[in-house]
Amino acid sequence: MSVTYFKRYRMEIDLAPQDGFPSSCPKPLPERYQLTPWHPDLVDIHAEVKFQSFRFELDANVFPCLGDRDGCRRLMREISRRESFLPGATWLLEYGGAAGVETCGTVQGVIDRHGMGAIQNLGIIPRHRSQGLGTQLLGAALNGFRNAGLSRAYLEVTAQNVGAVRLYERLGFSRVKTVYKAVDVSYA
Ligand SMILES: CC(C)(COP(=O)(O)OP(=O)(O)OC[C@H]1O[C@@H](n2cnc3c(N)ncnc32)[C@H](O)[C@@H]1OP(=O)(O)O)[C@@H](O)C(=O)NCCC(=O)NCCS
Repeated sequence: MSVTYFKRYRMEIDLAPQDGFPSSCPKPLPERYQLTPWHPDLVDIHAEVKFQSFRFELDANVFPCLGDRDGCRRLMREISRRESFLPGATWLLEYGGAAGVETCGTVQGVIDRHGMGAIQNLGIIPRHRSQGLGTQLLGAALNGFRNAGLSRAYLEVTAQNVGAVRLYERLGFSRVKTVYKAVDVSYA
């Protein structure tokens, strides 16, 4: 067995309303984009967007299921069946283009056993990135936690994923802990 350790940060945010983000009145999305709330019929669409967002990314090495279509399907079904799953913190992002509606982003939220919101797998498919959509989608999930009465939320991010870490810090998340995830890379 050959094991690699990936450094990850646990990052947390206070959900109390503040001047900046998260705000109960997020900025409008760019034209033609819309947020779609959770519905059980959308489970496989969330899974497909998760796969398209993560398949060529670092986190597909850290969590091999993210680089595999069936793995994403199993993961998404497992998350949505948990008692702790929070529909109000789970969103799809859709784009209405000339060719029809394209789904381009996903985020899910659960409530952990300490009553904290936990963000799962924020992803925007590559051709829709760098327009503020990841920020907006994460903001929608955080508002879902706040609407459920939670006061704090967290996520984990791979330290090498510097763009994602920057996004989270910009939104007000702070690093509270460093953890190491062991991954068996023998079959990689
Ligand atoms: C991380 C991720 C979700 C970010 O999505 P995104 O939609 O590109 O995020 P944003 O557009 O909100 O922010 C990204 C950058 O675009 C910039 N940006 C925001 N609005 C912009 C605009 N209108 N025009 C140009 N750039 C803009 C942001 O300032 C930010 O810049 P920076 O990278 O220099 O800090 C996306 O890269 C992704 O899915 N990655 C793969 C999966 C992954 O790693 N997920 C995180 C797991 S923890």
